[in-house]
Amino acid sequence: MCGIIGVASLRYNVASIIKSGLEKLEYRGYDSVGIASIASNTILIKKGKGKIHEVETRYGLSRVPGSIAVGHTRWATHGAPSDVNAHPHADCTGRVAVVHNGIIENYLELKEKLTNLGHVFKSETDTEVLAHLIEEFLKELKPFEAFRKAISMIRGSYAFAVLISNEPEKIFFARKDSPLVIGVGEGMNFIASDIPAFLEHTRRVIVVHDGELGYITPVEIYLENSKGERINYLERIIVVDWTPDMARKEGYPHFMIKEIHEQPRAIRDTIRGIDENYEKAVELMLDSEKIFVTAAGTSYHASLVFSLIMSKLAGKLVIPFISSEYLSYANSADENSLLIAVSQSGETIDTLMALREFKKRGARIIALSNIIGSAIPRESTLAIYTRAGPEIGVAATKTFTTQVTALTWLAINFSEKRGAINQIEAKSLYKVLRDIPEKTERIISMYEAWARSLGRDFANKNNAYYLGRGISLPIAMEGALKMKEIAYIHAEAYPAGESKHGPIALIEENFPVIFVSIEDRLERRLLGNIEEMKARGAYTIGVVPENSILISKLDNYVAMPRISEIFLPILSIIPLQLLAYYTAVSRGYDPDKPRNLAKTVTVE
Ligand code: M6R
Repeated sequence: MCGIIGVASLRYNVASIIKSGLEKLEYRGYDSVGIASIASNTILIKKGKGKIHEVETRYGLSRVPGSIAVGHTRWATHGAPSDVNAHPHADCTGRVAVVHNGIIENYLELKEKLTNLGHVFKSETDTEVLAHLIEEFLKELKPFEAFRKAISMIRGSYAFAVLISNEPEKIFFARKDSPLVIGVGEGMNFIASDIPAFLEHTRRVIVVHDGELGYITPVEIYLENSKGERINYLERIIVVDWTPDMARKEGYPHFMIKEIHEQPRAIRDTIRGIDENYEKAVELMLDSEKIFVTAAGTSYHASLVFSLIMSKLAGKLVIPFISSEYLSYANSADENSLLIAVSQSGETIDTLMALREFKKRGARIIALSNIIGSAIPRESTLAIYTRAGPEIGVAATKTFTTQVTALTWLAINFSEKRGAINQIEAKSLYKVLRDIPEKTERIISMYEAWARSLGRDFANKNNAYYLGRGISLPIAMEGALKMKEIAYIHAEAYPAGESKHGPIALIEENFPVIFVSIEDRLERRLLGNIEEMKARGAYTIGVVPENSILISKLDNYVAMPRISEIFLPILSIIPLQLLAYYTAVSRGYDPDKPRNLAKTVTVE
């Protein structure tokens, strides 16, 4: 996830407008920043690693001359944050400059072809291929045709803004699966990832749809669909009445709910981002006698899901532990051990300490993180990444479901390579995984109203139990953590079977008990646990598969689709994230900034 902006103006200098637009987009990424402008038919580029104010101090971004310019704030996906990997990226001749948000899936293949044609690449990014493709086609075609042909060769997700010095008054753009909006001004037009980037200048907006492309000039907008047919953009103009802050959240009242809704996109991008390092990770797993997985908080719950799926699918023991407890596990580590360190931020000190201790004993380390180049990936043998984009709400949501997605892929691939499942079984599991983003979308739309209404009742509660067995248990734990951290309700997760060994003593009339039950073979046992709780007056709520035998026993439930159980952790957490969110809102709390908590914990 990155932020892009382009401004075409009749005024002389737009660099300061680009810089202030980038500041509004910094929530989309902040590891490097850059600007390209056209002045006297020449492209000028200033860019560097760091936040906007740091790069401004070093290079004076806002002083770059030119009335046509594009800018970018980056969230690294291919290539670590660095000056050279910062956008914009240029072709060999310096006549093309590209900014991009998304992932080009076939960039390695395109890069090889272009290198064979003599193109020299400067960065490790996927984006640079577009600049060289355009350069190649400019040999025979006019700029817009060259741009269109280059776009037709890209597979993956993108929002592009491109300068070509042969047509210095235009900014070319294209969109597929990454957001892009046009701002319609007076003598000044805009293209950006998000409306706040230009809200100070215009409230007239056109949302660019998937497959559309075109260009803007200071006084003209050209938009066409994927068949090359011109679109009457005037019919598409909407006038927004958002404040800049509302717009940054795309109209959602909080980042947390925005991020819950972003999960289909985040999961899709994570699946698309599975690369050769994931394959290498599986090789390391196959080559290790002992596998440990460690993390804190929500990431630990994802690790628990992984450990249970590995046991279920591959019959391989993976030892999970909470990273702050590393001293109790490190003694068993040696050079035949592998530690998988899971951390969305890549900076959690407990996980970093566990990693260092295991490394000291000769263990190899795989990092799974959402932030390229952060400390945990840097200190690991191998790093793999989720593609959730920046998560601003303190409560982890989209980083959890993307972690589980990535770890589930590892478990399937490991099981296939180990011979625990055959190729046909693996193929059908990958297919289900690819359908998960769409199913996630459906679950969000089916259960948001349910969560809003139940959240109002929960707002009056002081306690709740979350019970589960097998792979349902980490989901119960994650659901309880969400409720605890943002709604400040004492929510406690327990293995359902263990509940009668003590916790049941607290049950009284209307005490809420949430049962997560996504494994068929454990259903009958849960039936008994539900009966026990009901007999003591509990209000029972279930997260269960469609047609589950538990439904008739529950006071309230949400139903998950009947697909392979290993994918249900991703779907079944969603109603519980929504429930925690709406409970916090009903209680009048700001879920984005829970008291006493920091997004990243860097003290032991
Ligand atoms: O950045 P990490 O994944 O290493 O963070 C670990 C925990 O601090 C984190 O998951 C925390 O529990 C969440 N904010 C809870 O929603």
